[in-house]
Amino acid sequence: MSSITIGRSALLAFSCLLATSALGQDADPQAIVDAQFALAGNQKGVRASGAKGICVTGTFTPTAEAPSLSKAPHFAKTVPVTARFSMGGSNAKISDKVKPVTRGFAMRMTDPSGDLVLVIISAPVFSTKTPKQLLDFATVRMPGPDGKPDADKIKAFSAANPETTKQAAWLNARPVPASFAGVDYWGVHAYTLTNAKNEAKVVKLKTVATAGQLGLTDDELKAKPDSFYADELKERLAKGPASFDLVAIPGEAGDPTTDATAMWPNEESRKSVKLGTLAIAAIEPNATCDAATFDPVVDLPDGIAGPTDDPMFAIRSPAYAVSLSRRSAQQ
Ligand code: HEM
Repeated sequence: MSSITIGRSALLAFSCLLATSALGQDADPQAIVDAQFALAGNQKGVRASGAKGICVTGTFTPTAEAPSLSKAPHFAKTVPVTARFSMGGSNAKISDKVKPVTRGFAMRMTDPSGDLVLVIISAPVFSTKTPKQLLDFATVRMPGPDGKPDADKIKAFSAANPETTKQAAWLNARPVPASFAGVDYWGVHAYTLTNAKNEAKVVKLKTVATAGQLGLTDDELKAKPDSFYADELKERLAKGPASFDLVAIPGEAGDPTTDATAMWPNEESRKSVKLGTLAIAAIEPNATCDAATFDPVVDLPDGIAGPTDDPMFAIRSPAYAVSLSRRSAQQ
């Protein structure tokens, strides 16, 4: 191991400790990421989550209304986007046919002043509300000596932590998406948008697929191979860009802003504001997306901020850094 590697690891361990204590976190990001990797047998050179994915490029074009909500330069003109669609979890060989797994959409809108990164999923809620609960959620699902997790332990954990069952219930109630471009994605956390007059609004962010919700019937699903999203996207993009509306769902007094497992009351029927259109135009070599991490905490410009009081938000930055460091060292 070179001294550079030792230096980087030590720095990372130190920054994890700092992040854990300074943010009042109840679990160490390194321990969580270790558990995430262990769940799929510690595959090498892959992400701790979103291990199987496809890198793409496109543009984001804001609406005329967007600057009235956010002063971020990305909401004032068309900007380039590098993005990645993925399957949740650290198994790079996961079948695209699995239902209770979120599809992911990580995007980096670039501007000379800095990036705007959103990393969002195909469910309106996350699986856990605290980092410690995420660690326990992963630990209880760890395969035993027979290669299988203990179903009774999972049952007991779910009964004691009912909010951790909401995401899977939501996904199980819907068909498997036929396309990465045929499903909506949610930011899950409560974001604050601030305009040039320094007027702030709490919102949830969502991308709405222009193609609509393209779900597979059971028969269609049976006929699919385990990997079909990459080819489907290539074919789709050969005919033209795949687009999504980025919308802001307005917050109301009393909405929970600290619990990523909770939807807001009537969230689905609130009148959202369209911030712009994401147009995904081309497949990009995976290396472009793999060289860095999409950090949804650090890479936010003035005009858009994540929640300060949601324990699941801030910890994402050190966790993603641990994963990047490990997968980069293994390549
Ligand atoms: C405690 C909270 C969380 C932890 C510890 C965590 C951990 C991670 C890690 C370690 C990675 C791999 C990063 C990399 O190697 O570049 C990752 C990727 C990802 N996470 Fe999370 N995550 C958390 C919360 C969330 C939430 C709330 C969402 C969605 C709203 C989310 C969606 C994703 C997606 C879509 C990816 C794939 C990113 C890509 O394609 O590069 N995560 N997560």
